[in-house]
Amino acid sequence: MLKNNNSKIKRAILDIFASTQFFIFCKYTHNAIANINTMPLNSDTPLILAIETSCDDTAAAVLYNGKMLANIVATQKIHEQYGGVIPELASRAHQQNIVPVVEAALKKAAKNIKDITAVAYTQGPGLVGSLHVGSQFAKGIALSLNIPAIGVNHLHAHIGAHYLNETPPQFPFLCLLVSGGHTQIVKVNDYLEMEIISSTIDDAAGEAFDKAAKMLGLPYPGGPIIDELAEQGNPSAFVFPVSKLEGYNYSFSGLKTSILYFLQKNASRNVHFIDENLNDICASIRYTIVKTLLKNLERAAKDTDIKHIGIAGGVSANRLLRKELSKMGQNNNWSTYIPSFEYCTDNAGMIGILGHYMHRKGLSSPLTSVPYTRLK
Ligand code: KG4
Ligand code: ZN
Repeated sequence: MLKNNNSKIKRAILDIFASTQFFIFCKYTHNAIANINTMPLNSDTPLILAIETSCDDTAAAVLYNGKMLANIVATQKIHEQYGGVIPELASRAHQQNIVPVVEAALKKAAKNIKDITAVAYTQGPGLVGSLHVGSQFAKGIALSLNIPAIGVNHLHAHIGAHYLNETPPQFPFLCLLVSGGHTQIVKVNDYLEMEIISSTIDDAAGEAFDKAAKMLGLPYPGGPIIDELAEQGNPSAFVFPVSKLEGYNYSFSGLKTSILYFLQKNASRNVHFIDENLNDICASIRYTIVKTLLKNLERAAKDTDIKHIGIAGGVSANRLLRKELSKMGQNNNWSTYIPSFEYCTDNAGMIGILGHYMHRKGLSSPLTSVPYTRLK
């Protein structure tokens, strides 16, 4: 894709420098989130600046003693036209965005940079160039203010978004983590103690949505668009395979291939097939992915006898997944936990809250620490 789009990319880079293709979408937290600190504080009441730049969102948040004061996200619209994130463009866009986004977060929080007592940043996993921008920026702040820098695991932070809830899950809880790059069932024993009990052996659920969208000619990211169109469609219109693996592991590559063959076969008979059936195709794909995800989660909950079940990550914004998880909880008499929309997709609030709990344990990262691109 990179080779084919070389001239397009060059043009896009020039556009970035001309500041025309760039769109900053700021989300503010409206209400401070109460009751986060159920444990007594160790020593201080930290004011944490959190920075997230793992992929294509530049985000900053400010938390006082675990309460969200500001949560700002700048989404990079430039990737839409390429059907996926172009790493080089993402790093450049982070460079361009990081200062205004951090300034916006501090302004919203009504705090001065000098008031910050610790800086949390995403250390990985993610795109290496993107991670470098956020981590170097965070380390620069830590060095100049002589405060700790806390490198946070992005996936743990997605799960940690639950600690921002007014009623956080009880430990242990099971969390289905579904993002663009990962699909896992995680047993969460404590704030920072997490055990992966299943993963995808190939594509992630978010990737399945994004790739299906690309085949349908829809822009990136495909998950939210498929979700939207699916609301008007019939989920039983078309049948796609639900993968069955040993244990609780997932696989989405078979679904991807079956969608491809299905579209090719039908388009060869009717060139307008996709246009005429778009809502039904989206509804059927969404239904299949959600059914696949929940089938293993339900089995894992029954086998482990854990009755507190959550979802996290970008795909947890999916309307059908949210609805079906609640239904599954009611049927089994389980408590279910669904993050608010602003904490599903990438955001710095989740980095901040995990950083908050790491800080309470006295954890910080040396200034020599480097980003990690893969899961540790
Ligand atoms: O967690 P996230 O923001 O970034 C990663 O860490 O990967 O997740 C992004 C993924 C994308 O694949 C996107 O298509 C998907 O989350 N996504 C959705 C929805 N909103 C975002 N998938 C299905 N339904 C949605 N409403
Ligand atoms: Zn993420």
